Amino acid sequence: LSNKVVKNSNDLPIVVVMVPLPAQGHLNQLLHLSHLISTFHIPVHFLGTPTHNRQVQLRRVHDNNSHPLIQFHDFDIPPFPSPPPNPTASHRFPSHLIPSFIAAALHLQRPLAAFLRTLSSKVRRLVVIHDSLMSSALQDVNAIPNTESYCFHSVSAFTVAHSLERKELFVNDGYKDGEITTPTYQQYFPKELNVVSMEQCFPPEFLEFIGSQFRHLPKMGAGKIYNTCRVIEGEFLEVIQRIEPEFRHWALGPFNPLKISKNGGNNKQSSCSHSCMAWLDQQEPRSVIYISFGTTTAMTDEQIKEIAIGLARSDQKFIWVLRDADKGDVFDVNEIRKSNLPEGYSNLIGNQGLVIRDWAPQLEILSHWATGGFMTHCGWNSCMESITTGVPVIAWPMHSDQPRNTVLMTMVLCVGVALKEWQQELVIADAVEEVVRKLMASEEGAEVRRNAERLGNVVRQSLEEGGESRQEFEAFIAHITR
Ligand code: UDX
Repeated sequence: LSNKVVKNSNDLPIVVVMVPLPAQGHLNQLLHLSHLISTFHIPVHFLGTPTHNRQVQLRRVHDNNSHPLIQFHDFDIPPFPSPPPNPTASHRFPSHLIPSFIAAALHLQRPLAAFLRTLSSKVRRLVVIHDSLMSSALQDVNAIPNTESYCFHSVSAFTVAHSLERKELFVNDGYKDGEITTPTYQQYFPKELNVVSMEQCFPPEFLEFIGSQFRHLPKMGAGKIYNTCRVIEGEFLEVIQRIEPEFRHWALGPFNPLKISKNGGNNKQSSCSHSCMAWLDQQEPRSVIYISFGTTTAMTDEQIKEIAIGLARSDQKFIWVLRDADKGDVFDVNEIRKSNLPEGYSNLIGNQGLVIRDWAPQLEILSHWATGGFMTHCGWNSCMESITTGVPVIAWPMHSDQPRNTVLMTMVLCVGVALKEWQQELVIADAVEEVVRKLMASEEGAEVRRNAERLGNVVRQSLEEGGESRQEFEAFIAHITR
């Protein structure tokens, strides 16, 4: 099959429709998946609201080449309250985004149904891939002719398997921790992993939103899709398949483009034009630590100051992405909070580091041979990107699935070290300095680095022609075009 034209047995096409949750970390993944599917010459419709699709287009991932087979469709939704971000809130979760999720899930239901009905009459099969958190918008999808739907879980298989094994319940009015654990729970999630409860990672109102979406899942769907692969999370995918045998579970990842995910390549010049790439070109191999906390984390000025000092004192070269807490990633908000660096900081660090104040080319940075570590909040995209590029991490989780991903990265896969103090409100400069030195300049760090490089190689090999991940992707394409 590999990237050859998929021919249908009759003239009507197979068409894929993507329905993402309007949050950058979720959109990103389905946009990457759209690109991959379109390389098989299958048209993809990417659905959303005007603002959220505009954001997608602004931040189209690695699209120097255009993707004529992907079409973006905007559906207007009524205005909704959008409070500004609050980095001093007791819970680190970006609660200000919740109204936008609720509004999209609620108001897209009708226009989506109308769109799908019209399209379904012109195709041989309509394949709908929707974020698990947009399920209510598609609750009637089974009634649409020629249509089959797949639920996309934007988190790790480890996270999903943990919820299933622990019998965590997301119900209409919230969440119930698993009081009864399955007999196999301890086998996969022994006590020493110390996996934190969902209540520690999400505020109640978001758990309620998850409940409102997940209750539609049991009766919909031809299968489930994950941005992971069996060489990374095979055992957890097996757990999921065992507990939910009624669905076929597809590990189609990594979704991030393979062509730029080879760390340590010989080409000294990068094709990316961001100025940080020229700076990276001048550094020693594996000498730079990249620091970024994704798209939803807001830090206080005090915390920014501690990170700044810790990095400077670590004596390691670094690239730090520090964007203003505008949280304009999904919907515009009125207030922008500037992220202030300590006065005179650029003079203090000189050529030791770069602070990027806008959108950074993360995948290109991780793929660069000079990058040797990644301090990350362990959002699932960032985890997959670091694994694929063979870059070890310092895990500093903030909220959501991130604490669970941290366990996976540091204790299961052993491709990272955790910042011990992550649960504290204020992580001080000493802790930042210590953990950076540990990863970049210690024997323990060297061991972790070797693990990361080994796993990266295995993952990239599995994506080559005939490799396990490549075969699963091709099997999925063959399945939807059958
Ligand atoms: C959100 C949740 O926070 C996370 O827990 C969940 O797993 C996915 O959705 P986010 O916080 O945005 O994700 O982090 P992450 O999953 O790492 O996604 C960020 C993406 O944006 C990555 O693909 C990263 O490469 C990209 N990015 C981010 C950039 O390319 N440049 C930037 O400057 C910042």
